[in-house]
Order: sequence, then C-alpha cells, then structure tokens
Amino acid sequence: MSTDIFGIGIETSCDETGIALIKNGNQIIANPLFSQIKTHMLYGGVVPEMASRLHLEKFPSMLEDLMKYREFREVSYIAVTVQPGLIGSLLIGYHIALALKKVLNVPLIPIHHLEAHLYASQLTGKILEYPFLGLLLSGGNSAIYRVDGLGNLSLLGDTLDDACGEAFDKAAAMLHLPYPGGPEIEKQAYRFAQQNVHGKISNPLPVLLRDQPKNKYQFSYSGLKTALYYFLQNNPSYDVNFICWCFQERAFEIVEKNIKNAIENTGIRKLSAAGGVMANQNLKKRLSLLAEKNKFEFITPCRELCTDNGAMIGALGFLYYQDKPEYDYQNVISSKPVFNS
Ligand code: KG4
Repeated sequence: MSTDIFGIGIETSCDETGIALIKNGNQIIANPLFSQIKTHMLYGGVVPEMASRLHLEKFPSMLEDLMKYREFREVSYIAVTVQPGLIGSLLIGYHIALALKKVLNVPLIPIHHLEAHLYASQLTGKILEYPFLGLLLSGGNSAIYRVDGLGNLSLLGDTLDDACGEAFDKAAAMLHLPYPGGPEIEKQAYRFAQQNVHGKISNPLPVLLRDQPKNKYQFSYSGLKTALYYFLQNNPSYDVNFICWCFQERAFEIVEKNIKNAIENTGIRKLSAAGGVMANQNLKKRLSLLAEKNKFEFITPCRELCTDNGAMIGALGFLYYQDKPEYDYQNVISSKPVFNS
C-alpha cells in the first residue's frame, strides 16, 4: 500500500483561480490556474465583484479536470486560503472546499495566503529548516519575516508606504505601460540592459536607501515614485527602456539592502522568497549573487509558483496536516489571524 500523502490546495483570494493536487507536500500532480488579468487590466486594477464572479464561473470545469486524476480519490486533506484577500473571492474557494470536505470526508485546513507564499519554495524539493527568513514581495506586501515554525512568524520589516509590486504598477502607469506593470517594466529594462552590456550607466533616479538602524528592514517606495514623476515631467522625450531599467535598479537596491542587513543581524543563513515580484528574473539573479557573496542559502520557486497558485496552498496544507491533522475549520473566515505577525 502506498504511503504517499495527496492533498488538494485551493486559492481564490484575489484574481487567480487555482486548484492543485499535491503529493507529499512537495510534488505537483496538477496545478491548473486561471488568471483573470486580461479582464482586470481593462480597469487598471482588480475589480472585486468581477473577481468573485470569474472564480464562480471557472471553478467547476477546473475541478472536473482535477477529478480525472486517479490521485484525486486518494486525497487526505483539503487546504484552502481563508485570509487575507477579497472577501467575496475567498468565500467562493472556502465554500467549494467545505463541499469537497463533506464529499471526500477529509480534514479541511485553513491557510493564510502570505504564509503559503513563504513555503512555496518547498515545491523546489528543498526542505525548509527552521529558523529561516521569508521575503514576500507582491502587489500588496513588501515584508521580511523570521519563521521559527508553522504559524510562528515574526514580522521583521515591512513597507512604510507602497508595496514593491504596487510601486512597479504605479510606475508603469506613469510610463503608459499596461497593468500589471512589473512584468512590463522587467521586459523593457531587459531590452535596455541587452543593448548596454558593457557600458557604465549613470542612473538619474536617486538612491533612496532609507537611513535606518541596521536592525530595521523597512521598505519605502514613495520617494522613488516621486523622483520618477519629476524625471518624466522634466524629460518628456525619455527613453522608456532606459527609465524602466533605472527604476528597476533602484527598487531592487532597497530589497538587497534590507536582506543583507537581516541576514547579518539575525545570523539566519536561509532565505525563502516569493510573491509576484519574485517572478522578476533580474531580482532573482541579484539575490542569488548576494547569497553567494554573503554565504547564505537562497531558495525561491520557479516564476509560475512565485505568483498566486493552488500548489503553494496544498504544499503548506501538507505541513499542517502532518502537524495537526484534525483542524477546527469553523469560522476561519474572520478577522482573527491564523498566524501572529
Ligand atoms: O503575488 P501577486 O501575483 O499578487 C498580488 O499581490 O495580488 O503579485 C502581483 C504583483 C503586481 O504588482 C505585479 O506588477 C508584480 O507582482 N509583478 C512583478 C513581476 N511580475 C509580477 N514585479 C516586477 N517584476 C515582475 N516580473
């Protein structure tokens, strides 16, 4: 008899509909994902009512596809994102999970979306030993956590104003680039870098590293945004590839500095990073080099698993299932935090 443990991960907290079938917490059997981005980009951001309706529309066929897998009948748990997120969207995933729980008669495990991002790296097959540092860079968060165990996280630093991804989105809007801005800025910056491989480049955007004590790891992007705004006002015939490169450089210098300080001060030599912005290959490369130079281990999942997905929910669900298979799932959609931060 097989000792493998299969689980389902459900993600509907924002504008991605995801349901995944996971084996032993680190192998993906199936991870279908529907991104609503094409709908929301018409409005320059996520429209909550539309997000809920699209989850409702897409979920039945995605579930049906997943049910074709033999492993679906062997699942031992269902993990579902319960917070944070758009309440209408969360409720759809949660109620589908409740229905599945009744049918399959397995435990339902409520998952905190941000915690799942920090554990998405275990889908690379690597084991995350405690303590480790968790970096979360997305449209709503720029944060560094110290992770000492399941649900045992301390927030070491976050943003004073915009999240990193939000800053990319707003910068892209100023540059008349489509939403979401991050991938677009990365593309344009890459084009510039390809054409200037050897040249020394002078960046007109200021270095905006906060003058803060070494044991503080706060992010701030409003100064960079303002600098970009005035640069564009004063240089109407700017080269978009060049300015994207400049913005990306400055945005990631802030990330690098905070990570370097956090590694030095905590003495923790393992970093797990995820969230939409970590899909950026330039950032991945920069953090890999920083890790090499400062002798710490840097783990991040592939591009597709950095953004929202069902697999990371199923992966974290596996750890909770092993830790405490019987969960009180009642009233989990509430203001009560699943983890303390
Ligand atoms: O984690 P995520 O998919 O979802 C939410 O936070 O809702 O992150 C989305 C954010 C957006 O702000 C987007 O512009 C940013 O991640 N992003 C990127 C890249 N891909 C997505 N930022 C920089 N470079 C990228 N390649």
